[in-house]
Amino acid sequence: MNRMVLLFNNLFEKIKKHGILGQVNKTNQPTNISISKMNGVTLQEAKKLVMRLAVKDDIDMFLDFQEFVVAKLAKNELWGTYSKRHLGKLMDDGGVIQLYFNDDELVGCLMVWFDSEEELNEHQINHLGLDKTAIYGGVMVSPKYWGNGLQRQMGFEIERIVKERGKTFIVATVSPDNEWSYKNLVDARYVVFSELNMSKGKRLVLIKEL
Ligand SMILES: CC(C)(COP(=O)(O)OP(=O)(O)OC[C@H]1O[C@@H](n2cnc3c(N)ncnc32)[C@H](O)[C@@H]1OP(=O)(O)O)[C@@H](O)C(=O)NCCC(=O)NCCS
Repeated sequence: MNRMVLLFNNLFEKIKKHGILGQVNKTNQPTNISISKMNGVTLQEAKKLVMRLAVKDDIDMFLDFQEFVVAKLAKNELWGTYSKRHLGKLMDDGGVIQLYFNDDELVGCLMVWFDSEEELNEHQINHLGLDKTAIYGGVMVSPKYWGNGLQRQMGFEIERIVKERGKTFIVATVSPDNEWSYKNLVDARYVVFSELNMSKGKRLVLIKEL
């Protein structure tokens, strides 16, 4: 893993466009997402996942899903978990949780939130500007669906939402030991900005300019 801290100027390189899969619907109607890389046994027959944005009634389902995924991790500490209170506040403050379903089965999620001064301070990235920055977090894929590139594909959708909100930067943090998420973020052209010693351990701060 390349952990070298890159200069902030590197962020301004042109971002190569990725294929966007499906449309994010502002009215929160389900959206079909084509899955292009289907190498998982479970997904062999599935051609589409359906994405919709979570509402407050989905929080318990999210928490069950989180518990399920965390229980399957080899190192639980790689994942910072979210509480009901945190998720409720995130939604109240305009944050978005994407949920991806294969029929009725929740298979993945990714969230993004905005205007978090606390996070900008914590990650020492105030120079990006509160009004220009979105925070990426809460990405999970059901273990039996791992290996289908879902984190990256969910990330393409979240970028559309972030752009719609008029933001320029997306910031993600990841443990240096989380090789899977790290690789997916770097493949999606996030750039390592710094490595911080945080209360939950070492975290790489990665930034993508849209
Ligand atoms: C990070 C995460 C979402 C990636 O899932 P994904 O998009 O399905 O991963 P990929 O498709 O890129 O998987 C690539 C390879 O890594 C493997 N892999 C992915 N996540 C893995 C994990 N947590 N443990 C072991 N292997 C994993 C896949 O099986 C696949 O292997 P293959 O190439 O032999 O088929 C998933 O690991 C996860 O839900 N982790 C728990 C939550 C978490 O850590 N979130 C990130 C916080 S920053």
